[in-house]
Amino acid sequence: MPDVTLTTLQALKQKGEKIAMLTCYDATFARASCQAGVDVLLIGDSLGMVLQGHDSTLPVSVADMAYHTASVKRGNQGAMIVADLPFMAYATLEQTLHNAGLLMQAGAHMVKVEGAAWLAESIARLAERGVPVCAHMGLTPQAVNILGGYKVQGRQQAQARQMVADAIALEQAGAALLLLECVPSELAGEISRAVKVPVIGIGAGPQTDGQVLVLHDMLGLSLSGRVPKFVKNFMQGQSSIQDALAAYVKAVKDVSFPAAEHGFSA
Ligand code: KIV
Repeated sequence: MPDVTLTTLQALKQKGEKIAMLTCYDATFARASCQAGVDVLLIGDSLGMVLQGHDSTLPVSVADMAYHTASVKRGNQGAMIVADLPFMAYATLEQTLHNAGLLMQAGAHMVKVEGAAWLAESIARLAERGVPVCAHMGLTPQAVNILGGYKVQGRQQAQARQMVADAIALEQAGAALLLLECVPSELAGEISRAVKVPVIGIGAGPQTDGQVLVLHDMLGLSLSGRVPKFVKNFMQGQSSIQDALAAYVKAVKDVSFPAAEHGFSA
């Protein structure tokens, strides 16, 4: 299989074939996920919660992200690697460029930042320097203390209209990928149709161009015991982790995941 690039992801969107993305933090799972057919490996700052045991993603450092990105790179077999810029690592333009450079040098093909239209300037500057950017919108966990918890975003009409406008603005600024977290399914579909770049969803229904889940969630592992509504345990009915990873990819590609019960209404 040829390596997955931005061109591959754009072609999948144009063909209407769904993109399977999964979080990954080490070389062994990178290899297993590639063998299962995962298109995009995300070194998410969710590692602060699922690996480090924190109650939010805020304590994660750029050094943590670079360490896990380099580990994933060593196990990768052709997937695109996206790495999160963690909390406060893109607060200024200077920090953004420096820290994105560290993650790209560790092995990322793209960096992900959380926010809305205010990201436009950083995205434009990164893109012109050769760093593709994924813009994470909707529920942005690094802003949990502003949002007042891990809540669905875009339920009110004004907020929904703003999210569509912000998505278009970030595409125009140069974002190569959008990620929508915990957004009503209809709104996520509208945004996916409004932009040319691929849109990946988590808790955003079946109409986005692809799906992502946190690895530990889809393997049925939970530290807190709280399982979000949008999660499906793919270990159920499977006899190995490798089979569960393959079942996830198949379910994303044949659009049997996410089902209606995994989505949110306005
Ligand atoms: O950090 C992460 O794992 C993420 C996913 C929830 C999309 O951003």
